[in-house]
Amino acid sequence: MLELKKVSFKPDGNPVLDEVDLQVNRGEIFVVMGASGAGKSTILRLLNGLLAPDSGQVLVDGIDITKLKEKQLVAIRRKVGMVFQSAALFDSLTVAENVGFAWRKEKISHHEFHARVDKTLDVVGLAGIGARMPAELSGGMKKRVGLARAVAMNPKAILYDEPTAGLDPMSSNTILTLIKDLNTRLAVTSIMVTHDLPGAFAIADRIALLYKGKIAFIGTVEEMKAAALPLVQEFVSGQRMHGQAV
Ligand SMILES: Nc1ncnc2c1ncn2[C@@H]1O[C@H](COP(=O)(O)OP(=O)(O)OP(=O)(O)O)[C@@H](O)[C@H]1O
Ligand SMILES: [Mg+2]
Repeated sequence: MLELKKVSFKPDGNPVLDEVDLQVNRGEIFVVMGASGAGKSTILRLLNGLLAPDSGQVLVDGIDITKLKEKQLVAIRRKVGMVFQSAALFDSLTVAENVGFAWRKEKISHHEFHARVDKTLDVVGLAGIGARMPAELSGGMKKRVGLARAVAMNPKAILYDEPTAGLDPMSSNTILTLIKDLNTRLAVTSIMVTHDLPGAFAIADRIALLYKGKIAFIGTVEEMKAAALPLVQEFVSGQRMHGQAV
């Protein structure tokens, strides 16, 4: 359902992505890993039309979105929701206004707006906090509100940019469990960018490792653990050396 075909992105002439081919299947949890600056966030931005590639095709349900006008891209961004690393909440709006931001132009009653918000907050395990301000939330709760805002669009796919970065292990686990749970419950396709290898191993159907503008490895968790490729071994043991049990 989401596909990159020979996609290159070279903002200053240097390729961040170099003719990358990638196919993410409907309903899977796909994880993108790689060093800082490898182009992980770029892939997510390309997939929902926030960035345009220099060459190649970006297909969403078979439609090449690189050919679409801004107005049509708005519809794509509803279909392919993004949860940003920083949660990116509007600090001056309540949690309810943040979650229901996409509905602000719809003609729905105050009552229905809040009923919908409550239902959406319930999906991420935060029922009843609609009246709070973002500043009153913990980091993990903010991420869940960011997730609720994406869920509010009724997306077919959700892109997560480092959803567990900066969280303690327990909050990270809550988010990972939620991502897995939503993937099934909402029947969405999920793509997660992360530096958290144990987290990726816990929920991924497949993992891709980006290196020097190319996909150096792609496969299941078992395949990654068993991969003889020095780059993968280095990546996996490098994460171990940083104190994370794999
Ligand atoms: N719109 C843009 N214009 C110019 N350069 C860009 C643009 N977007 C990304 N880049 C460059 O592309 C490279 C990859 O960036 P990207 O944010 O995708 O990395 P990343 O893998 O997500 O890294 P991190 O793990 O640090 O988040 C960086 O060198 C960045 O400066
Ligand atoms: Mg990034």
